Amino acid sequence: MPSSTQTYPPIAAWLHWICAVVILWAMISGFALASGALPPAVAAAIPPFNVALTTLLMPVFLLRVVYRASFRMPPPAGIPPAKHRLARRAHALLYLLSGLSLASGWLMMERPVDVFGLITLPPSLEAGASTQALARLHFASNVLLALLLTAHIGAVIQHQRQGRRLLRRMSLLTG
Ligand code: HEM
Ligand code: HEM
Repeated sequence: MPSSTQTYPPIAAWLHWICAVVILWAMISGFALASGALPPAVAAAIPPFNVALTTLLMPVFLLRVVYRASFRMPPPAGIPPAKHRLARRAHALLYLLSGLSLASGWLMMERPVDVFGLITLPPSLEAGASTQALARLHFASNVLLALLLTAHIGAVIQHQRQGRRLLRRMSLLTG
């Protein structure tokens, strides 16, 4: 595949950044909550807000994955093929773990999901051993996703500093 400075289609870039903002927020606020260090009023507000926000993200994430299958991206200029293969595998794992965090979060719910007062959805499973196992899966998936995201953001910063302008490929404005 030829190397190129081609940018992602704007829709893909918008979907990347919408998902990135929501996932990073859910991750950081979720772990802050789990640490027990937040003031009680903030700690009470975060779960219902995050549950509604991440529920709304589910169709957006699905659209992102479906749309991603509709185009091919050449590797960025200056990346050796072996490194590009590694990046593609890491990106596939990012999709997988994001999907797993969304699905496990949804399935572990033991109370109805209130989406900002617009609609209330019933829990999908009965509270018990399975929802508890899914909560453990949610935690494990979140930890792995946080580690991979740290590597993802670190890799982007490193490429930028070495003059390979990956952020420009993910620009919201250029097509
Ligand atoms: C500050 C945060 C982030 C920055 C700076 C960033 C930056 C980027 C950039 C520049 C690319 C394009 C790489 C290329 O040139 O091929 C990319 C791709 C990607 N990013 Fe991020 N990202 C961030 C957060 C996230 C988050 C939170 C996720 C969600 C799990 C994510 C998932 C992905 C995936 C899956 C791709 C591959 C896109 C594809 O080809 O399908 N990123 N990111
Ligand atoms: C992008 C997807 C998601 C991310 C990154 C995320 C992240 C987190 C994190 C870091 C925590 C705290 C640690 C833990 O217990 O795992 C958490 C807890 C939680 N998440 Fe998620 N989550 C996501 C999706 C969802 C979804 C879709 C739901 C439900 C619709 C959900 C419901 C919850 C609940 C109820 C808690 C426990 C909060 C409490 O302690 O009361 N999450 N999430």
